[in-house]
Amino acid sequence: MSPKPRPVHLVPSILSADFGRLGEELRAAAEAGADRFQVDIMDGHFVPNLSMGPMFVAAVRKHCPRPLPIEAHLMVARPEQWIAPVAAAGADVIIVHAEATVHLHSLLQQIAAAGALAAVALNPATPLEAIDEALSPRATTPLAMVLLMTVEPGFGGQALIPAVLDKIGRLRRRLDERGLECDIEVDGGVEAATIGAARAAGANVFVAGSAVFGHAGGAKAGIAALRKALARGAAR
Ligand code: DX5
Repeated sequence: MSPKPRPVHLVPSILSADFGRLGEELRAAAEAGADRFQVDIMDGHFVPNLSMGPMFVAAVRKHCPRPLPIEAHLMVARPEQWIAPVAAAGADVIIVHAEATVHLHSLLQQIAAAGALAAVALNPATPLEAIDEALSPRATTPLAMVLLMTVEPGFGGQALIPAVLDKIGRLRRRLDERGLECDIEVDGGVEAATIGAARAAGANVFVAGSAVFGHAGGAKAGIAALRKALARGAAR
């Protein structure tokens, strides 16, 4: 029997927010119905960009107008160093890249021990086989979510890579066959024109940076446009 359909979540990525108006940006997105926030942590090694660290997670926690969950996306070469600090700073979900470790099993245990939900991200060219064992129904730390990157990680504002849509479908089928209650998140190039295709392929959690904080009408209008596009897809 297939598991129940997973609920749809919209997750604004803080990377595209105006950091000088962080509180206002968080408020606008939360009022517009953001389900949680993503904080992108980049170290200049795993990805060719530097961004924020645990202190930024703490700032989002502090200024979030209601207690929405925060996910920390660790785009770092040594994820084991950052799990405890980001959890202590208030991250509820911690996402590690399969490409950044040869000890995924231990990393996932470390996340659970820090009191957060464990998730794994895969770059566009990384096959699903990289997480096949982590998706065993007998895994020590069940995965709450798999993040399929729909762009190369590191920068906002890129176009979604269409080939990842097939991968989403294959992962959805694999999860259903195994009866796993695991979300599929997509991140990169998610906008009104692409969110429907990602949803139709089987994703249920959508990270959007530019389409929310870079929207001409502000975060509220950005979230409304994404919800509308999702509803249009559902009505089809
Ligand atoms: C990419 C980051 C994304 C990024 C998405 O490395 O993980 O979260 O902010 O940005 P958009 O939505 O602009 O593609």
